[in-house]
Amino acid sequence: MRIDKLLANMGYGTRKEVKKILKSGVVRVDAQPVKDAKTHVDPEQQEVTVFGETVDYKEFIYLMMNKPQGLISATEDQHDTTVIDILQPEDSVFDPFPVGRLDKDTEGLLLITNDGKLTHQLLSPKKDVGKRYYALIDGEVNEDDVESFKAGVTLDDGYKTKPAELTILQSGEESEIELVITEGKFHQVKRMFESVGKTVTYLKRMSMAGLELDEDLEPGEYRELNDEEIQFLYEQTGQKSE
Ligand code: URA
Repeated sequence: MRIDKLLANMGYGTRKEVKKILKSGVVRVDAQPVKDAKTHVDPEQQEVTVFGETVDYKEFIYLMMNKPQGLISATEDQHDTTVIDILQPEDSVFDPFPVGRLDKDTEGLLLITNDGKLTHQLLSPKKDVGKRYYALIDGEVNEDDVESFKAGVTLDDGYKTKPAELTILQSGEESEIELVITEGKFHQVKRMFESVGKTVTYLKRMSMAGLELDEDLEPGEYRELNDEEIQFLYEQTGQKSE
């Protein structure tokens, strides 16, 4: 790829700004100064340095965020802060987007990436990717609900949900549960409980596609996935990573 594109992708500025950097002679490819923006480089094979520092090129970024309440799962929003707004500039330069949506008042695991192929696979209804939620419920959750969720419940718009696995952690006036669903309809967990006459008062996603939320991440914190985790996600969707 062209050296100016590579440097712009890596956050060294716009193409125009990068051109200036190149002209100043601080960019080297395999130790040779390169000033021409049109120069082609192979980032896998060649070492690119700027001011003597190696440019660690990558095309994709994969982040795991513990989404806090109050943020919108979108790339931009007119009124509210989005999960993308709180990324560090060195991460947002990759133009990542959230993999699916969590409601504004939902916390927990949110994957953020610019890998469209993986995103598509993770969200494809055909792939039955499991998502595990922890929730507090206003109302007594019982074995009838477990059976109903296993059989599929009918939501307010007439949609019948796929089988879901409900585990009661504590049952009482306020109940504590875990629920695994393999689809992602709008407000799905909340609407499933509404269909059995109960209300979700707190919702947190604990895992997606078998990838667990890192307990060390406080709400609002995020980290990059490691190579094993990326590989794992690809395996879960029956894909091969590049
Ligand atoms: N189900 C919901 O109701 N809300 C979410 O944010 C995720 C799943």
